[in-house]
Amino acid sequence: MTQADYSFVTAPGALPLLGHTLRFLRDPLRFLRSLPAVGDLVTIRLGPFDALVVCAPELTRRVLLDDRTFDKGGFLFDRSREFLGNGLGTCPHKDHRRQRRMIQPAFHRGRLPGYAQEMRAQARAVTDAWQAGRTIDVLAETTTISLRTTAATIFSAAPAALRESLAADLVTLEEGVFRRMLLPPHTDAIPTPGKRRYDRAYTRSQQTINRIIADYRADGIDHGDLMSMLLAAQDDLAAPGAEGARLSDEEVRDQVMSFLFASTDTIGKALAWALHLLGRHPRIAERLHAEVDEVLTDGVATFEDLPRLEMTRNIVTETMRLYPPGWLLTRTTTVDTELGGRQIPAGTDVVLSPYQIHHRADLYTDPENFDPDRWAPERVKAIPRDAYLTFGTGARKCIGDAYAMTEATLVLATIAARWRLEHTSGRRRVRAAPYALALGPKELYMRTVARAGQGGTKPQDAAPAQATANRA
Ligand code: HEM
Repeated sequence: MTQADYSFVTAPGALPLLGHTLRFLRDPLRFLRSLPAVGDLVTIRLGPFDALVVCAPELTRRVLLDDRTFDKGGFLFDRSREFLGNGLGTCPHKDHRRQRRMIQPAFHRGRLPGYAQEMRAQARAVTDAWQAGRTIDVLAETTTISLRTTAATIFSAAPAALRESLAADLVTLEEGVFRRMLLPPHTDAIPTPGKRRYDRAYTRSQQTINRIIADYRADGIDHGDLMSMLLAAQDDLAAPGAEGARLSDEEVRDQVMSFLFASTDTIGKALAWALHLLGRHPRIAERLHAEVDEVLTDGVATFEDLPRLEMTRNIVTETMRLYPPGWLLTRTTTVDTELGGRQIPAGTDVVLSPYQIHHRADLYTDPENFDPDRWAPERVKAIPRDAYLTFGTGARKCIGDAYAMTEATLVLATIAARWRLEHTSGRRRVRAAPYALALGPKELYMRTVARAGQGGTKPQDAAPAQATANRA
């Protein structure tokens, strides 16, 4: 019997001890884009971890579809489990099917019109506070919209103060978590100020969610939100009253953390990138404005408008092709296995990158070009199956994909109805922020221009308290 070949080509430029960590942190997107030229399967070294990056699209698909062999795990998930717990997004294969069965009804399409009301209300509330001619921190604004929307659709009945406190803690956790993922667990013991902030935010967020769960259980009312759905969820394959037939408080809390993380950061960042791209492509922005002027009745997009907001939707889809919020996914092999004709030992960290796949010239014509029309019905057929991995694929595909597309489309249309955002001079080039679970723009400041005839608050009659960082 020949001995298994476990050797893979290693990405060039590894430093002693640090491996590729500095290259990765300095410009992770460039680093990822450089790997397909090295091979279909490439080993990288990130601090203490060796990971196998899968570059070939057909191998990426195989890994995503075989979630028993390539289970959730690897550096992203192992450390995110420490604060996300064992929710749907992080749980291993053995727990997944039961959780997915129980949670799926909360994301039924029939519930979207109700969630859509919150989406447009929050979009309107935040953008109503904008002042014409001011410079805004775009990501802060879009994150506020998505955070408030998520909080309202998950627990509409929770007091505003609790929702706000949770929102602030989430921002702290998100900032801290990516760095922690790249560091060995024993460094957690070092009490840096960032670590203390992270620990406080973690403890408080758990307490806040526990309190909301207790309040919901006590009042027993169906509030028509995700929390009510989770508390009522019943596993159809288990006898009523049997162990595991309902989600425990701890399981509900983990799901809530998963939803909060999975939705807020992703949608907020996708919207920020969309506004940046529209600022750089005025002709596409004009077509967006023409569409919303024709479709929307009073400047706010409704669920019923969605089928006619085709250009808006294509802009959202194309934005997330260029900048998929879930830019990195990781898995771990549960058994010795084979991939692309190579043997892979059990316990290997496998890295997949929707970002890398979306930028391949063999899958997309002119891949660096922002071209929303590639998603028009007559052209979309040319895009190969599973070339678009913004929401993943297979059994672990995003449960909130329709929710996310609904929110991003409605919010973008509502913004475009009244505002155009332009880059401030010399700031048209925007880089991706490293150290983040979701891919977002770094320092994206744009000026608000009220669209002719659409009103927009003038500086002198603006509301005094802005939603977020509205900078003069
Ligand atoms: C633009 C927005 C979003 C993007 C880009 C996105 C992306 C993704 C991706 C790529 C995955 C698969 C991860 C993997 O295979 O490792 C995923 C899973 C998941 N997403 Fe989303 N997501 C978005 C919005 C949402 C929303 C709004 C929710 C819920 C409110 C949500 C909840 C989840 C959950 C629970 C999973 C795990 C599903 C499972 O393993 O069965 N996501 N998401």
